[in-house]
Amino acid sequence: MKIFLDTANLEEIKKGASWGIVDGVTTNPSLIAKEGKPIEEQVRAICDIVDGDISAEVVATEFSAMLEEGRKLAKIHKNIIVKLPLIRDGVQACKALESEGIRTNVTLCFQAGQGLLVAKAGAYIISPFVGRIDDMGADGMILIHDLVKIYKNYGFKTQILAASLRTPNHVIEAAKAGAHIGTLPFKTLDSLFNHPLTDKGLDAFLKDYAKVFGTK
Ligand code: G3P
Repeated sequence: MKIFLDTANLEEIKKGASWGIVDGVTTNPSLIAKEGKPIEEQVRAICDIVDGDISAEVVATEFSAMLEEGRKLAKIHKNIIVKLPLIRDGVQACKALESEGIRTNVTLCFQAGQGLLVAKAGAYIISPFVGRIDDMGADGMILIHDLVKIYKNYGFKTQILAASLRTPNHVIEAAKAGAHIGTLPFKTLDSLFNHPLTDKGLDAFLKDYAKVFGTK
């Protein structure tokens, strides 16, 4: 499973990238707004840090305006993936942009039927939101399993990007389900490293070594 960072914060992206395990970055209008810089400037800076798919989302909601905005975003850098909301005009824009060779990520997927439409439109990526379904008292991971099954049944090429992953367990379950990509907030990525037995084990190794050879 590829690991993307779900943030527009440059310090977080630099730190994650320095670990050598970040394959791409997803942003959305809320994350861009949090950083306070225009989207063109912010995503260009992200492209300078990570050499992988970088999603940049349109804020237009009408077909022709989405196309115009999507084309502009795609011109920023060859790694830009144009993110579109999963509404009728968004799916229509996905089909049109993909036919022009512009890769798309259709976001805000909460139901497998929506995912079927997005795959038929030829999206490069679909983003189902696990955590937000959990927030409603349902099991968001079922959506990942359903999409993996449906896409496999028909050989759809659209990559499933499990989004709204908030815990290490979400990441493990998304990987077990067969999501192609998981996008994680920095905090979730950082917490994946942690295990008390790792710390305890390392502490014992170093103490045992130091008893015989001293500390460096
Ligand atoms: O970027 C989309 C998604 O990952 C948002 O996650 O935690 O705001 O539901 P969350």
